[in-house]
Amino acid sequence: MEINSVSTLYFSPGGSTRAIARSVAGGFVSECRDIDFTSRADALAFGEKDLVILAAPVFGGRIPGVFAGFLNSVNGGGALAAVLAVYGNRDYDDALLELADAARARGFRVVAAGAFIARHSMVPEIAAGRPDSGDKEAAAAFSRALREKLESGDTSEPRIPGSRPYKEYGGVPLHPGANRARCVKCGKCARECPVGAIPEDAPYKTDAGRCITCMHCVFTCPNYARALNPVMLAAVRTKLKKACAERKLPETYL
Ligand SMILES: Cc1cc2nc3c(=O)[nH]c(=O)nc-3n(C[C@H](O)[C@H](O)[C@H](O)COP(=O)(O)O)c2cc1C
Repeated sequence: MEINSVSTLYFSPGGSTRAIARSVAGGFVSECRDIDFTSRADALAFGEKDLVILAAPVFGGRIPGVFAGFLNSVNGGGALAAVLAVYGNRDYDDALLELADAARARGFRVVAAGAFIARHSMVPEIAAGRPDSGDKEAAAAFSRALREKLESGDTSEPRIPGSRPYKEYGGVPLHPGANRARCVKCGKCARECPVGAIPEDAPYKTDAGRCITCMHCVFTCPNYARALNPVMLAAVRTKLKKACAERKLPETYL
């Protein structure tokens, strides 16, 4: 099957989802169209000969709700989609299925799916250093297998694990704040927050009702001024370390 263009389209507050999507795209082209839906969405339309690597991080076993909303501005137009869920070594639960369902609803043909592991963006000691060489090799192998599948003319949808209704996700009761001594009010965090939870004139007042704890402001702050409350984070770390103790491996579906 002839492919006209390869794109990555992702939500990636901490950058790991983007890295994995790019590794998969790298098996097809050295440079692809890169569509970053972390901070905002654009109206986009694809066609039948396009391949889109559609990738999201896992938040509470689901795809982030804001990304699901952003996808409403995309018209799949029969394009082929490889969906990727990137998670922090606990579990991806229903996220891969939810992303496949969302892609199909937007008019994509889902031809492949993969769950990959990356550093836990809330507790970066968990799955530290991932994606590592083993993960990158798994992404390359997935890409090769997808290429062979498409070259053989097979555009069928694989069986993707997960259940409906999806697992409920209530959010995380922890929200990054700003250190007033370090924050220079440059406004980057406010401009890039995917849910508009940070006032540009008072970045230390994160709106807890809006914040989804995606960690983008923490990773993007040029002055390292933003962080979660260390005491509350310690409790989350203890709980998560138990659930994430065993190394999980990438899983792919073709
Ligand atoms: C709010 C929140 C919830 C998360 N929930 C899960 C989860 O349910 N399972 C898991 O294994 N990792 C979970 N993670 C970790 C992320 O899925 C993982 O770090 C992912 O690689 C982040 O992608 P990014 O670097 O592109 O933002 C969560 C992270 C955050 C910030």
